[in-house]
Amino acid sequence: MLSSLWLLFSFLPMFITLISGANDQLIPRNHVCNQILGNFSEGSDYGNNRKTVLEQIYSDTEIDYGFYNVSLGDNPYQVNAIGICRGDVEPEDCRSCLKISAAFLLERCPQSYEAIQYYDLCTLRYSNKSIFGVKETDTSDYYNIATKTAVDDAFNQTLNDLLDGLKSTAAEGDSRKKFAEIMLQ
Ligand SMILES: *[C@@H]1O[C@H](CO)[C@@H](O)[C@H](O)[C@H]1NC(C)=O
Ligand SMILES: *[C@@H]1O[C@H](CO)[C@@H](O)[C@H](O)[C@H]1NC(C)=O
Ligand SMILES: *[C@@H]1O[C@H](CO)[C@@H](O)[C@H](O)[C@H]1NC(C)=O
Ligand SMILES: *[C@@H]1O[C@H](CO)[C@@H](O)[C@H](O)[C@H]1NC(C)=O
Repeated sequence: MLSSLWLLFSFLPMFITLISGANDQLIPRNHVCNQILGNFSEGSDYGNNRKTVLEQIYSDTEIDYGFYNVSLGDNPYQVNAIGICRGDVEPEDCRSCLKISAAFLLERCPQSYEAIQYYDLCTLRYSNKSIFGVKETDTSDYYNIATKTAVDDAFNQTLNDLLDGLKSTAAEGDSRKKFAEIMLQ
C-alpha cells in the first residue's frame, strides 16, 4: 500500500513538481479510529500506556530501517503499536512523520482502543490486540486517484495487478525492510 503510493506519485513527476511541495507528504491522508470496540475511560492505564508507546516509537534513534514495534503493559491494558515508513525515507524524516502521526491519533481518536493513521511517508497503528507478525486484511487502504478522472475496469485491473506485484516483491524483502518499487513504462 505504502509503496503503491510512491509509485502512483512517481507516475506524475511534473504534477508533483508543479503543485506539490515537500510538505504535502505530511498531509494526513486517512485515519480510522475503531468505533466498534468502544472507548476506554479517560485517565485509564490503557490511555497512559498508549501515550507512552506512541512516544517510544518516534523517540527511538537506534532503528534506521523504518520499522518500529513497541508493546507495553499487561492485559487488559496492553498496547501494541507499529510504526512503518516508506522504504526510501531517511530515519529522521521517518521519526518526524511518526511524531506528527502520534499527535494526530491522540487528538482524533482520543479514547480508541485501536486506530491507524496514514501519511505518504509513514503509517502508525496501535491496538489492544496482538498485531506483531499477524496478517491483517481489515485495515483500510489509501491511494491517491484524485488525478485520474475515469476509474473504470481497466484502471482497476492495472492497479490490482500492480499492487499484487508490489506485495509479492515487498514480502520477499528481509525481516526488517518490506519495500518494493515497480517502474511502469
Ligand atoms: C468515543 O469517543 C468519540 C470521540 O470522543 C466519540 O465521538 C464517540 O461517540 C465515542 N463512542 C462511544 C461508543 O462512546
Ligand atoms: C519487533 O520486530 C523485530 C523485527 O522484526 C522483531 O525481532 C521483534 O521480535 C519484534 N518485537 C515484538 C515485541 O514483537
Ligand atoms: C480490546 O478492547 C475491547 C474493548 O474493551 C475488548 O472487547 C477486547 O476484548 C480487547 N481485546 C483484547 C485482545 O484484549
Ligand atoms: C474500482 O475500484 C474502486 C475501489 O475499490 C471501486 O470503488 C470502483 O467501484 C471500481 N470500479 C469499477 C468500474 O469496478
